[in-house]
Amino acid sequence: MARHKHTKVTKAVFPVAGLGTRFLPATKSMPKEMLTLVDRPLIQYAIDEARSAGITDFIFVTARGKSALEDYFDHAPELDAALRRAGKTELLEVLRATDMESGAIAYIRQHRALGLGHAVWCARRLIGDEPFAVILPDDVIAGEPPCLRQMVEAYAETGGNMVAAMEVPPARASAYGVLDIASETGPLVRVKGMVEKPPAGTAPSNLAVIGRYILTPRVLQNLNARKTGAGGEVQLTDAIAQEVNSEGGVWGLRFKGQRYDCGSKAGFLQATVAFALSRDDLRDELSDYLHALLATQRAAQ
Ligand code: G1P
Repeated sequence: MARHKHTKVTKAVFPVAGLGTRFLPATKSMPKEMLTLVDRPLIQYAIDEARSAGITDFIFVTARGKSALEDYFDHAPELDAALRRAGKTELLEVLRATDMESGAIAYIRQHRALGLGHAVWCARRLIGDEPFAVILPDDVIAGEPPCLRQMVEAYAETGGNMVAAMEVPPARASAYGVLDIASETGPLVRVKGMVEKPPAGTAPSNLAVIGRYILTPRVLQNLNARKTGAGGEVQLTDAIAQEVNSEGGVWGLRFKGQRYDCGSKAGFLQATVAFALSRDDLRDELSDYLHALLATQRAAQ
């Protein structure tokens, strides 16, 4: 297969319309994508990963109550001026790293919560007739190169549709989209079917879809039917599954990296600890504290 014979992926969709009820009351007046992982909101990790994969056009599918996200990606001239006056150059750098080029982000409203497939479909006019990426910001992935970049590189070989894939314990499979595997070559999996949230004991494999996708515009056409699936929602998984026998097919990539489910409290806490321990400015203090805390807990048992 020749390299780079496929259209470059420059657009990414970020479905950020969810209510985030699992984090109430924190999410009562704040989008869950603004929850802080160490010192950056979740959405910043997703944007940085997309940028490193060559994405230049960012499409947010939002909903009511999500305007804090738009403010976050706006320039902050007052803050900028205050930091400059105070000579805080390091903080200015931190702020600059969040700057987005004017016109790089578009916001589309999903008026009703009809499912992930419907959210992605809402962006169809901005995507047009080209391949595009989807990033679910709840899935935070620590990986080098970042997960979407690994996928873009693999996609240059395969074309078609690609999903990030990870083994999960069989008992957890019904929480995910699950792949039916046709064949495997290294980290690449040729997919012959996909099931969203399979009932316990019926999953075709233990290989789950994680929230990173590279999709063909045909998936958007499939979503036109707005057919409901698992949970009565329009499922992205079902629209991708329709492409398994198409020319480009559907591929899973067993990405390298650690995935954190930041849509759950336990996953968010694990990510917080892991990311903090990977930081030079926090590692020593936090690790001393954790050792001491665990020792006290063990002694009390
Ligand atoms: C979504 C997708 C599912 C995927 C999961 C990964 O489900 O529908 O296929 O496995 O993200 O996090 P959700 O977690 O939104 O229920």
